[in-house]
Amino acid sequence: MINVGFIGAGALANAMHYPSVAAFEDVTIAAICDLNPERLNTTAEKYQVAHRYTEYRRMLDEVDLDAVYVIMPPVFLKPIVLDCLAAGKHVFMEKPPGASVADAQEMADAARAHDRLTMVAFNRRFACVVVEAKRFIDDRGPITQCLVEFHKYHIGNARWEYYGTGMFETDIIHVVDLLRHFGGEVTDVEAYVQTWYSDQENVFNALLRFESGATGILTANRASGTRYERFEVHGHGIAAYIRAPEMAEIYKDGESQPFILRGSVLVGNEQPYRTYGFFDENRHFIDCITTGRQPMTNLDDAVKTRMLVDRILEAGRHRAG
Ligand SMILES: NC(=O)c1ccc[n+]([C@@H]2O[C@H](COP(=O)([O-])OP(=O)(O)OC[C@H]3O[C@@H](n4cnc5c(N)ncnc54)[C@H](O)[C@@H]3O)[C@@H](O)[C@H]2O)c1
Repeated sequence: MINVGFIGAGALANAMHYPSVAAFEDVTIAAICDLNPERLNTTAEKYQVAHRYTEYRRMLDEVDLDAVYVIMPPVFLKPIVLDCLAAGKHVFMEKPPGASVADAQEMADAARAHDRLTMVAFNRRFACVVVEAKRFIDDRGPITQCLVEFHKYHIGNARWEYYGTGMFETDIIHVVDLLRHFGGEVTDVEAYVQTWYSDQENVFNALLRFESGATGILTANRASGTRYERFEVHGHGIAAYIRAPEMAEIYKDGESQPFILRGSVLVGNEQPYRTYGFFDENRHFIDCITTGRQPMTNLDDAVKTRMLVDRILEAGRHRAG
């Protein structure tokens, strides 16, 4: 049995991570910590967790934990993650890994020094339609190009101050990570970063070249009409058009009709925590602890995504300037 503790009983953790972990028969949620007693008690009641804390250091001292979930805004992550690693715990955290590349790097260095396993929750990689579509494409060899599109209506949204990082670093990082997942490491970046109908940068377009020679395209417009997320991956005589978490269309060898993958059919469940990769990323973390291997999206890997975020922003600002 693997004992985990949670630091953070907020919105995202309750919607996605607690229900996932609670469903695993080989895991016990042994303790919960939150600064807010109401959230702490509501979540602890729901999952029948007796050990409740408002001070995480006491939780680390008093409860025998194998791993700790630190689920809170990036600006608060670093000191808590460093304490958990120093206490010998494996650590799972949400994206982005801290408030800066330097934060992410410091946590990655500490994880290596303490020989601990880490995971940054890039759930899109684990969404079942992404996993299955990628399998079809990879069967044909290297990709030729991929595109990630992630638009939202975000005019007037001030929540980024609470997170302590900008919208590109905090949210659009999801699809920057997917570019690396589909295409590998990046050699060249061209970008435009612009500000439209807002007082903050909110329109991001980038053209990348991967080490493989393939091309990557990112387009993210946060002054747009609504949330719209779509990915395209093109391989050898094959293309996947992915609307995660709902579906993916696979076109092969000139056929006019696609083969269709549906998220809810693949996992036998319509709830987003199942279709959108949250359950599967949690399962991956636990399986990695059981087998002693680093998760796919460990901190060293996440540092590369976080560095690519900054490269795109720098290239885009340079162009804009
Ligand atoms: N993967 C996704 O699609 C996705 C979507 C939304 C948010 N997120 C990420 O999830 C994370 C959490 O976001 P949220 O909106 O759920 O936040 P939240 O504010 O709802 O929850 C954070 C909780 O952490 C607690 N907390 C803060 N500091 C603490 C400390 N020192 N000790 C104990 N508890 C402490 C707060 O009291 C709060 O209850 C963010 O990093 C965000 O980027 C990911």
